[in-house]
Amino acid sequence: MGDPRYEKLLKCYECIRKITDFEPEVALVLGSGLGNFADNIDVKQAVPYSDIEGFPVSTVPGHAGQFIFGELGGVRVVCMKGRVHYYEGYDISDVVLPARLMHLMGAKILFLTNASGGINMDLHAGSFMMITDHVSSFAPNPLIGPNVEELGTRFPDMSEVYDRELCDVIRTVARENDIELHEGTYAQLTGPSFESPAEIRMLGKLGVDAVGMSTVVEAIAANHAGMRVCGISCVANLAAGLSPNKLTHEEVQQAANEAAPRFTVLIREAIKRMGRA
Ligand code: HPA
Repeated sequence: MGDPRYEKLLKCYECIRKITDFEPEVALVLGSGLGNFADNIDVKQAVPYSDIEGFPVSTVPGHAGQFIFGELGGVRVVCMKGRVHYYEGYDISDVVLPARLMHLMGAKILFLTNASGGINMDLHAGSFMMITDHVSSFAPNPLIGPNVEELGTRFPDMSEVYDRELCDVIRTVARENDIELHEGTYAQLTGPSFESPAEIRMLGKLGVDAVGMSTVVEAIAANHAGMRVCGISCVANLAAGLSPNKLTHEEVQQAANEAAPRFTVLIREAIKRMGRA
């Protein structure tokens, strides 16, 4: 009997291979409220997560769970409409299972998106921040436990998780389309409570520009597996204590809705070029 986490991944792989033989080049994870991006894809097949035996299914409103397989400007993409979060109570290995599964299916690039709270004072609700580095220290590391050699090495290097060339593609697309793009460090905390003002002050002192409840663990697992990773955070609100407003999930979804048209151009055009990068 092998590692139970790896066995589960292989079972999910077997299961999805009975449903589709699609081989994606790019895997895209859509964050809170950003799921409508999937409408841009020339859909070949949609597979609800619940059709995949053992696959973690999200419980958060705004995170309709399905894989969309299709083409975007000639690039074969798999898009996750909705992701699972650690705060829902899943084991951290389940949270990164989808990224590993998309890699097994063929995806060499993982494009992560999320909604976040802005800490850097240059950011405001609706800003986009390309993730150039991360702080994982406040979330469980998804590689804890016996290393599965088939997935990657025991002590993977994390000095350049966010692929330089992919970041260049995103920068270029933003410039050419007149989309303001910030760059910075993203930290994942577990949630589900938003941070306290004191926690935000701490993160600011640590050099964190934006904070959220996802992305970093997926980036670590993908880097471990040898995927090229990039990410864009959509700032939904100023982080706790930086504005007089209380934080709500509705506000996060509203900011995402407002940012959607710019977000769509940025992601769509970047993915088209990543097929060639
Ligand atoms: N904190 C954590 N996660 C978030 C936030 C925030 O302020 N906004 C959107 N997701």
